[in-house]
Amino acid sequence: MSVIAVIGAQWGDEGKGKIVDLLAEKAKAVVRFSGGDNAGHTVVNPYGEFRLHIVPSGIFHPGVVCIIGNGVAINPVVLLEEIDDLQKHSVDTSHLFISDRAHLIMPYHTLLDGLEEERRGKGALGTTRKGIGPVFADKIARLGIRTCDLLNKEEFHSRLISVLELKNAIITKIYNAPPLSLKEIYDQYCSYGERLAPFIQDTGPILQDLISRKQTIMLEGAQGTMLDPDFGTYPYVTSSSPLAAGSCAGSGITLRQIDQIIGVFKAYTTRVGGGPMPTELKDKIGEFIRERAHEYGATTGRPRRCGWFDAIAGRFSTQVNGFTSIVITRLDILDALDSVKICTGYKLNGAILKDFPSDTAILDKCQPVYEELPGWRTETCTIRHPKQLPFQARRYIARLEELLSCPVSIISVGASRDQAIMVKQVI
Ligand code: IMO
Ligand code: MG
Repeated sequence: MSVIAVIGAQWGDEGKGKIVDLLAEKAKAVVRFSGGDNAGHTVVNPYGEFRLHIVPSGIFHPGVVCIIGNGVAINPVVLLEEIDDLQKHSVDTSHLFISDRAHLIMPYHTLLDGLEEERRGKGALGTTRKGIGPVFADKIARLGIRTCDLLNKEEFHSRLISVLELKNAIITKIYNAPPLSLKEIYDQYCSYGERLAPFIQDTGPILQDLISRKQTIMLEGAQGTMLDPDFGTYPYVTSSSPLAAGSCAGSGITLRQIDQIIGVFKAYTTRVGGGPMPTELKDKIGEFIRERAHEYGATTGRPRRCGWFDAIAGRFSTQVNGFTSIVITRLDILDALDSVKICTGYKLNGAILKDFPSDTAILDKCQPVYEELPGWRTETCTIRHPKQLPFQARRYIARLEELLSCPVSIISVGASRDQAIMVKQVI
């Protein structure tokens, strides 16, 4: 048995969903512990192709308990749509549970996320506009409304009256936008509450019971380490912690119960939204990667910024999380290139930085220093054994392991569940 956290190691979209879907076969539970429907986890399996935003990627395995943990912010409209869509595709959702401590994304959160982005103008963060910043701000400011409130209509009504009064003052007086209707929101959320009630419960004890029975649990990260509010490229970050450390607070599992922390990296780098990205390629290679890998956001459809693997950010991410092994996804995307580059340092005012800077304004000025390796020019998508990989691909992987000081456990060479090379057993 073990508790395994699967963590986004870059700027999100690393392929966490695929890895969780793959490993969940041998798990007893999968838990989402952070973020909200800003996440978009693409899963391709015998049921079809899915973009999951809130439901854990273990949902396709009928015996696997799937938990939306207390650390997740839930937009009930999106969640209900997702449940309906899964059911339409004959996916059993009776093993889904929602923490009664999870916060709800309310209509004013999405509205204010958009209004705040407009106000920032050129300095916009490029958020997904799903209300993530405002919902987590309210959680910390003690203004949140939680799933348990949906089960207690009187309590919900009085909380909503008080919070909405404040929100409407901000919406009308600061942003000059029309106020939201108390009755409409109350009625809508009561009806969502009725549909969601069978799923809502205290989920911590379910997990502790599984742990006491020595069952395997996977913690499914959302977003990526470089979007963490503390260790990411602040302020171009998200608003909950995607780190391994966040997986405990967001699920109710203790630090001592985690056995493995798997960091998921793409074989290159992508970022969607604003903020510095030292290895971004604004040339033909960047475009080639975007088109070949179809690097467009699963949540917003925005084109993702593409670039070479950044081993400075990667090493930082490995240290901040304490990865026990790493997964490299989308290696196949690099198959056709004559050579591949890895960023091994940042040049700043004539000096070479080997560590990831805290100040985003400094990071913005950094120029990548690259190491160039020969490409392998061989299709890898049908390879299932590490020894079958072309020599130059193995060399690339070995160099990443060396730079990150962490062993690779899985290499993914395509979107389908079976397109994976198991280098080390993790489960
Ligand atoms: P998954 O789980 C990639 C980015 C947004 C924006 C910043 C803040 O699919 O890896 P937010 O809406 O969270 O306030 O936006 O974070 N972002 C992601 N980028 N993958 C994600 O999730 C992301 N979730 C948020 O683009 O730059
Ligand atoms: Mg995504």
